[in-house]
Amino acid sequence: MRFLRLDKYLADAGLGSRSQVRQMIRRGDVTVDKRPVKDPAFSLDPSLSVEYQGRLLASHPLTCYLFYKPAGCVCAARDGAHPTIFNYVPQTRKKDLFSVGRLDLDTEGLLLVTNDGVLGHRLVSPRMHVDKTYYAEVNGHLAAEDVRAFAHGLDIGEKKPLEAANLKILCNRADRSDPLVSIVAEEWELEPWTNHDHATGDACAYVTIHEGKFHQIKRMFAKRGHELTYLKRLRMGPLVLDPSLAPGQYRPLSKEESDLVRSGESSYF
Ligand code: URA
Repeated sequence: MRFLRLDKYLADAGLGSRSQVRQMIRRGDVTVDKRPVKDPAFSLDPSLSVEYQGRLLASHPLTCYLFYKPAGCVCAARDGAHPTIFNYVPQTRKKDLFSVGRLDLDTEGLLLVTNDGVLGHRLVSPRMHVDKTYYAEVNGHLAAEDVRAFAHGLDIGEKKPLEAANLKILCNRADRSDPLVSIVAEEWELEPWTNHDHATGDACAYVTIHEGKFHQIKRMFAKRGHELTYLKRLRMGPLVLDPSLAPGQYRPLSKEESDLVRSGESSYF
């Protein structure tokens, strides 16, 4: 939960300037959860009701969208060459929406877009070990040695070797008629998703990582001699890409999803 200073919250809500709202607070005209609060520096839980002279104020809503990022769009506020996430998810008047982490230009799939700084920070913090699961297609033949190397922790030139990652081979070109997608998806609590009909590479797999290094998955496969040809994020922590969303579409998190992701209580953290 992100706490805010009461005077800042009221000024942001348009009640008046910082000094005007401080006077209103000191006069006892402001209540939080129906109780008068006279300290302008009061630390406010923004989910509580705030009233001025008995009138409920428009709050500063914390928003979090589940966005299906299409390939070809960049996770930046501005870009000269490509559409950005804000060509799809309209920025707020306060321009406070940002993406939680980044996906590469060609990567598609689940991206959270929010104005909740605390939530965003928590989900990308290396200490939180948030699981991120991707569907990947690569060139070359994926084998048990690749699975072992991912699990061991690859050295991709960072200061330390990577943490253990989970590689689940779904199919190689040779046995493409029998992909393991539905079995693995059930085991991993995912929608059974594959690019099977439009496959770009020789082999496809699900990969779960806990970190978020630059081009991490691309570099992990490259280290094993495989060129990444397609990447789609299916899960981030307890949140799963909604199969009813088409690329470029977004929706707010449901109450359950929001509680789950804000509480941090999930086996995917
Ligand atoms: N790893 C990558 O290589 N690219 C992404 O977009 C995400 C993870």
